[in-house]
Amino acid sequence: MRTQVGIIGAGPAGLMLAQLLHLQGIDSIIIERKPREDIEGTVKAGVLEQFTVDLLNEIGVGDRMMREGHFHDGIELQFSGKRHRIDLRGLTGGQRITVYPQHEVIIDLVNARFNTGRDIIFNVSEVSLHDVDTKEPKIRFKQNGEIHEIQCDFIAGCDGFHGPSRLAIPDSIRKEHLHLYAHGWLGILTDVKQANPELIYSNHDRGFALLSTRTSTLQRHYISVDYHDDIANWSDDRIWSELHARTAMEGWTLPDGPINSKNIVQMRSYVLETMNYGRLFIAGDAAHTVPPTGAKGLNLAASDVKILATGLAEFYKSGSEDILDRYAEIALRRIWKAERFSYWMTSMLHRNPNHDSFERNIQLTELDYVCTSVAGSKTLAENYVGLPIQWENKSLIETK
Ligand code: PHB
Repeated sequence: MRTQVGIIGAGPAGLMLAQLLHLQGIDSIIIERKPREDIEGTVKAGVLEQFTVDLLNEIGVGDRMMREGHFHDGIELQFSGKRHRIDLRGLTGGQRITVYPQHEVIIDLVNARFNTGRDIIFNVSEVSLHDVDTKEPKIRFKQNGEIHEIQCDFIAGCDGFHGPSRLAIPDSIRKEHLHLYAHGWLGILTDVKQANPELIYSNHDRGFALLSTRTSTLQRHYISVDYHDDIANWSDDRIWSELHARTAMEGWTLPDGPINSKNIVQMRSYVLETMNYGRLFIAGDAAHTVPPTGAKGLNLAASDVKILATGLAEFYKSGSEDILDRYAEIALRRIWKAERFSYWMTSMLHRNPNHDSFERNIQLTELDYVCTSVAGSKTLAENYVGLPIQWENKSLIETK
């Protein structure tokens, strides 16, 4: 097999990249370890920045999202028994977030891919990358017991945190940064009506809670737990009792109902600095992880592939590798800001068992400052709706 861009992984990064390239007349082959039903059925994140919404519309896969997604103009922060609204729209000159589940984005992208007449090769194993530091990189994989090889001009490693792409960069060159948190998030899906028109993030003495949504009858909620904890220790009653306690407000009751899935995920911050090695470009979760508190994961995948596709389009049009050479630098500028924001939101909203009473009060005062100062709430709002790609390393401050 031969193609221009070999894409490893049919997650949001790989599928968005394929569609962006297709629109530029650039051919790609996508391989994916899992079966189609798995990638279309796994419940993951749900918050899209305006940037991501615009990109999905630009590549022609936004129709269902615009019909079925929920548009939120603000979020609420709860602490010390009060709720405070952050007016995202008012504070950012009209930007908002869209709640539309990641697996629905995947379904739309897979359909778009098949509509282009190009395939996705599912159920592959033993994926390996070869000659990535030459102009003829190759991907080998096994499917139905047979070994196949794809010869490409470029390889895009969009295969998530556990994929093989990143490991094709020699250890002596690969630079990475990892930070682990003491908390995990226990997430549930529950068949019940929406708790609140907007998301609620709560910092309570008992720990963090987040009330989110999927549809008008299906809700996604989280509580922070010790990440070593076993989900078997969490009966539905125990989960609801924590959710009730951590989001309690006088005169308001959290609607509860049957829980139809629950799991615990570890919180991690990870950045791969070496996002490019020879003809290999790493994008999406393969290059970075954020704790979910800032709702950034999928949105960083979107900006990575926008930058990468722009660079590849320039290369095929003019032979120039200017943007490709700067891919990591441009992408990392936005990634580190999202990392910073997610780390900050996590530190501000989670109970830290090591905090003394002074630090606990500083944390609550930070929340108070964010909610009651224009500068404080603008900082949160502009990061939450998403910062722009900075193609050049220039300040974003407009001076008159
Ligand atoms: C979600 O709906 O899954 C969700 C929303 C906001 C977050 C994280 C997850 O910060």
